Amino acid sequence: MISIKSEREIDLMRHAGHINYLTHEEIKKHVKAGITTKELDKIAYDFITKNDCVPSFLNYEGYPASICTSINDEVVHGIPGNTKLKNGDIISIDVGVAYKNYHSDAARTYIIGEVDNKIKKLVEKTEESLYEGLKVIKAGAKIGDIGAAISEVAHQNGLSVVRELVGHGVGISIHEDPDVPNFGKKNTGLVLKAGMTIAVEPMLNLGERYVYMEDDDWTIKTDDGSPSAHFEHTVLVTDTGYEILTGEK
Ligand code: MF3
Ligand code: CO
Repeated sequence: MISIKSEREIDLMRHAGHINYLTHEEIKKHVKAGITTKELDKIAYDFITKNDCVPSFLNYEGYPASICTSINDEVVHGIPGNTKLKNGDIISIDVGVAYKNYHSDAARTYIIGEVDNKIKKLVEKTEESLYEGLKVIKAGAKIGDIGAAISEVAHQNGLSVVRELVGHGVGISIHEDPDVPNFGKKNTGLVLKAGMTIAVEPMLNLGERYVYMEDDDWTIKTDDGSPSAHFEHTVLVTDTGYEILTGEK
């Protein structure tokens, strides 16, 4: 079922999204060579709870942390641990914040120190694909328009689009209907309506699109070991376009 949010619900999601943004800003200050992903997780947990919010991911289907930290060939859902960030890594950080039971979901990928130009381009183009995907959103547009816009950026730049994981509705649950694939055909699929709240989250790989799940039953990695980047925002569909709920105010 796809829910249309009331003004009251949208306000709660705006607040959750704002704290999500601020959590990312707090984490960003510490994303440097030498820090462990577990330390980043603690920074996020402390910040979210200090702001009277709840980390959406913690205990979600048994997930053991407040954020996901996915390094290099890890695509998404990497579990924070004792791994230290080092020069040449890229790290995708995914944050979920709930306020009064309303969720927000947002991810960014950071470059640590110096990386190959190819990897820099992967990160830049993945972020660009997110914003291109968002630009087509408004009431009356179709879900396939989003995926078409995202995959166009990917393919024009020789990058591949992960298909096994998709964006999703967000609200009273972190994952709601509808699915929001990062691939698809223009003018196909579900018609967007004002008041829907969705997370758009392209995951692009430098190599092939294929992925597998690690033995920890969470971490998704690229089959060919190539690096992968991930950017995500939670947005509200409006009559004239969209409002990013997890962006800067
Ligand atoms: N943003 C992630 C997603 O939509 C949320 C993961 S929840 C977790 O897939 F529990 F897996 F962390
Ligand atoms: Co998500």
